[in-house]
Amino acid sequence: MCDNCGCSEMEGRENIFLPKEVKILRAEQVTEHEKHFTLRMADESPFNFTPGQILEVSMFGFGEIPIGLASSPVRTASFDIVIRGVGRVSNAINQLGKGDSLFIRGPYGNGFDLENMRGNNVLVVAGGIGLCPTRSLIQYIIDRREEFKNFTLFYGTKDPKSQMFHDDLAYMRKAADIQYFETVDRPDDNWQGHVGLITELFKRTEVTADTRAVICGPPIMFKFVMRELHTLGLAADNIYVDLERRMKCGVGKCGHCQINDQYVCTDGPVFKSSEIDNLEEAL
Ligand code: FES
Repeated sequence: MCDNCGCSEMEGRENIFLPKEVKILRAEQVTEHEKHFTLRMADESPFNFTPGQILEVSMFGFGEIPIGLASSPVRTASFDIVIRGVGRVSNAINQLGKGDSLFIRGPYGNGFDLENMRGNNVLVVAGGIGLCPTRSLIQYIIDRREEFKNFTLFYGTKDPKSQMFHDDLAYMRKAADIQYFETVDRPDDNWQGHVGLITELFKRTEVTADTRAVICGPPIMFKFVMRELHTLGLAADNIYVDLERRMKCGVGKCGHCQINDQYVCTDGPVFKSSEIDNLEEAL
């Protein structure tokens, strides 16, 4: 029987809205607004997902928010999310720490098209908090490095203190098989790297027509990066954008995430550029 209204609608069916408990193994405030959580299912069962998929994360008494997974599914002992404290639910979650519980539904959405990426060059262009959902792909490529050709990451933030995942960045700065380039808009006195728009990083590397590109970041960045990639000759089918905005239910029921005939939660959150080129609202 349905728990909500007592009707027989749910009989014999799994309740897709029922969350499962997870334990917080680690919680670290990584920037002024973002907190990085490492989680494990409370019953210690494995949690399987594809890079780029999302979770609905909830805290009783406060509500639920959609969040992209921020770790590689190859690392099965735990999984990561990063919460930006910008509202009632996210601020409440960010008060939690190691040993506390959260609740999740999912994973949902399509994730990245790994088949189309394997055997090819991959370029990830991440702006600000866009590094969080793309980290699941970045770590996956690092874990299965032999399956991909050149791997390049462009990472742009407002300023140096907005950078996240410092250990990852330190590793990538030194890794011989990763081309990592970073930029900030507003440097501090210690910043030695590039200053300026993320699109300026294209001058530092070669993007060939067999590259598969992934873009995730603020909407304004999408347009400029897409334009650059089109100019470099990348086919629209080989450019992916990760859109996580406006989701609510995560399972195609509420219509909140709908852009024309596309549902971000079930058709996305990863779309080919060719799929959204005509959806003005998408970016
Ligand atoms: S979030 Fe409800 S339909 Fe997509």
